[in-house]
Amino acid sequence: MSKLSLSEEASRRRTFAIIAHPDAGKTTLTEHILLAGGAIRAAGAVRARGENRRARSDWMKIEKERGISVTASVMTFEHDGKMFNLLDTPGHEDFSEDTYRTLTAADCAIMVLDAAKGIEPQTLKLFEVCRLRDIPIITFINKLDREAQDPMALLDEIASRLALDPSPIWWPAESGNRLRGMAEVGAGRFQPYVKKPAGSDEDPDHGDPLPLDQAASFFEGREQADLADALELVEAGYKPFDRQAFLEGHMTPVLWGSALRHFGIEQLLKAIGDWAPPPKVMPAKKEAPPETRNAPAPEALSVEPGRDEVTGFVFKVQANMDPNHRDRIAMFRMASGAFKRGMKLKVQNTGKQLSVNAPIMFFASDRELAEEAYAGDVIGIPNHGVLRVGDSLSESGLIRFAGLPNFAPEILQRVRVKDPLKAKHLKKALEGLAEEGVTQLFRPELGSDFIVGAVGQLQFEVMADRLGEEYGLDVVFEPSPYAEARWIDGDKADLEDFAGKYRPQMAVDIDQNPVFLAKSSWETGYVAERFPKVRFTKTRERG
Ligand code: G4P
Repeated sequence: MSKLSLSEEASRRRTFAIIAHPDAGKTTLTEHILLAGGAIRAAGAVRARGENRRARSDWMKIEKERGISVTASVMTFEHDGKMFNLLDTPGHEDFSEDTYRTLTAADCAIMVLDAAKGIEPQTLKLFEVCRLRDIPIITFINKLDREAQDPMALLDEIASRLALDPSPIWWPAESGNRLRGMAEVGAGRFQPYVKKPAGSDEDPDHGDPLPLDQAASFFEGREQADLADALELVEAGYKPFDRQAFLEGHMTPVLWGSALRHFGIEQLLKAIGDWAPPPKVMPAKKEAPPETRNAPAPEALSVEPGRDEVTGFVFKVQANMDPNHRDRIAMFRMASGAFKRGMKLKVQNTGKQLSVNAPIMFFASDRELAEEAYAGDVIGIPNHGVLRVGDSLSESGLIRFAGLPNFAPEILQRVRVKDPLKAKHLKKALEGLAEEGVTQLFRPELGSDFIVGAVGQLQFEVMADRLGEEYGLDVVFEPSPYAEARWIDGDKADLEDFAGKYRPQMAVDIDQNPVFLAKSSWETGYVAERFPKVRFTKTRERG
């Protein structure tokens, strides 16, 4: 049992995710953060663990074939008196709703940029999600050991494309073969970079920082003077780090390094520990107990991390890694309270009670049973389909967090099972996958087809693979006549009027909410203009 108070436990938590364009170095950085945090012993463990996992879960053959990680997870480690929860966001080209949803569970994001490439398309997309959810961002410019762009050009790009004030904490001395190290802005300290000797397997220790004016031996020619000149410009030209501006999303501290060479990693970890926010106060609603007569409207509530009651929400449901087990693991992000193993929690919308006897904490080294957990922590709750993405859980069962958004899918396909006798199985399987949040499912009001929606093409492949492996269903995806799905909302009469005119294009999602399937984005615009009282939305909050 912890000796710290509830608020002290909460305030030492740092729950963060890494966002990056594919290949910028997210996996490598994850590995080296875990290494610096003392969570793993040798670099390479993350990958080895990944491969072990893949070998065990061959339903994810795609993952193996494509060499990408399709499912997100979380890794927890303790370092320097703080508890770090690193949420792993899938970063491949076809990223899914999972990525977005994982960010709803993060309090801070590390944005990794490739020093040669700067901001790339996926960086921008992920950044937008962070901005939407007010998630502060720490920037890590990676791959300094390769020839990099001019550091000022990189910062200017952050300022102009993200409308974010970059505040350099360190400043690199050259890059690529000439990388000498980096200087702490405004502090006169220099962190040397030591090159890996040719033929050696071991990464060298870069040593401790030292005063810049005593670091001459690390430089050649004019390099040290150039660094001093650059520092002068930097100190005059960029705003000093202001934590409040960072927390409010106006400023990003910029750190530099090479994940592969374990350079700049301690500095990054320290920045996360010092500056990333502790678990935030979460807006929620408190419902009246079900037995209340004439139940009053739900009461708005701010859930403080130090609140006694255990509360939180499910942001992801993961199929069990072991294909012999049909149970699922709900990833539960705690918003408050002190969770103890064996505790009973209630699902707000269904009133179902769960005894959480075998919660899982995802320590980097392995999974362990979670004996206790606090706000900011993520625990895995095994269950048989009781828990769904967006569910709020609490001791009272009365707390409801603003739902997690469902995003309108960008690709809609019709799905058909080759053996018509298995149509019923297909329905169940599709519902199961939609509940996990793998894909979205729409059932048109007319006809018997199912329309499956996804944010990226890869999700269909994952789905076909899983339907085969887990449910024994051989399915084909076919193009559908639809290009977009929009949830509709408005007065009953207006909705009925609209639905009556567009019956063949009306469908329901898995929660029976009405959805309009448009044949083109032009049509979406057209109907929105013709039916101004109906709201057509791209996201829908669940729960
Ligand atoms: P991702 O998860 O963001 O997609 O990137 P990942 O870490 O897999 O890194 C992509 C490639 O960039 C890898 O090379 C990786 O070794 C390399 N990389 C990551 N950080 C650095 C760095 O600081 N410096 C340099 N020079 N390279 C870096 P790869 O050849 O694609 O894969 P591998 O054969 O090394 O595994």
